[in-house]
Amino acid sequence: MEFNNLIFKVEDGIATITFNRPKALNAMNSETMDELKTAVKACKDDKSVKTVILTGSGDKAFVAGADIAQMQNLRPQEALAFMELGHETLRLMETMPKPVIAAVNGFALGGGTEIALACDMRFASEKAMFGQPEILIGLIPGWGGTQRLPRVIGMGLAKELIMSGAQISAQRAYEIGLVNKVFSPESLMDETTKFAKKLAGMPSFAIKMAKHSINFGYDLALDNANRLEVECCAQCFSTDDQKEGMKAFLEKRKPVYTGK
Ligand code: CAA
Repeated sequence: MEFNNLIFKVEDGIATITFNRPKALNAMNSETMDELKTAVKACKDDKSVKTVILTGSGDKAFVAGADIAQMQNLRPQEALAFMELGHETLRLMETMPKPVIAAVNGFALGGGTEIALACDMRFASEKAMFGQPEILIGLIPGWGGTQRLPRVIGMGLAKELIMSGAQISAQRAYEIGLVNKVFSPESLMDETTKFAKKLAGMPSFAIKMAKHSINFGYDLALDNANRLEVECCAQCFSTDDQKEGMKAFLEKRKPVYTGK
């Protein structure tokens, strides 16, 4: 697929979506967000895609936020539409039945941190910087930062970052649980791809059920969340992969999964 502001490739079951607006440090204008939505839908629908990686072109930025030049003169009603487009896209990505990994190669500020937060996990280069600096330009986060950041790092730290607009390093992001793994800039993509391939080899229905149960159970009361898990786990027993996984274990051999 061809895009103006993204590079999209699928190889060995791994789709890589690369933000590519170098002149604006990959800042997200509405065209780029529309393209991301199209790319995410394509990943969701393409059976050959097992895992998705999001990253930024160049070595400076993942995404430096929503495009400030485009937003500068928006009226509230227009801003609403821009924020809704971001939310719709990120929720689509967050709830798609395949793992999505952010490979954060540089600045992930504002909308950049928010895109990474809507991924299932975040791997970062030692050079990556995170933050929600919207307050410094008279805004608050508009693509989920006030909601997903406290869920990932806790209320106190999220309020500190959002109210101060401070940027934090990849190492600090790792310490507070915002980032899963930190790699050298040179090894970030290789390590992320290696991990993505590992996930691509997992039984795909179980991956889908794990993501569904975690995502949709998280905001339920515990008894309802536990019920959701029971149902998701039970459904795995309808798959060939569950039969194969258990048979292979008992026969002391590697399972061969078919995704059925
Ligand atoms: N929007 C539009 N353009 C941006 C941009 C953004 N978010 N971030 C960087 N750029 C542009 C700059 O304007 C600059 O363009 P010119 O070369 O034409 O002047 C180019 O990218 C390079 O940027 P800098 O010269 O600023 O590079 P730097 O190395 O000095 O600083 C930076 C890098 C710290 C990331 C800095 O660019 C910066 O602070 N960017 C803005 C970060 C920000 O505030 N993001 C939040 C946006 S609001 C948001 O995201 C709302 C939401 O929740 C949906």
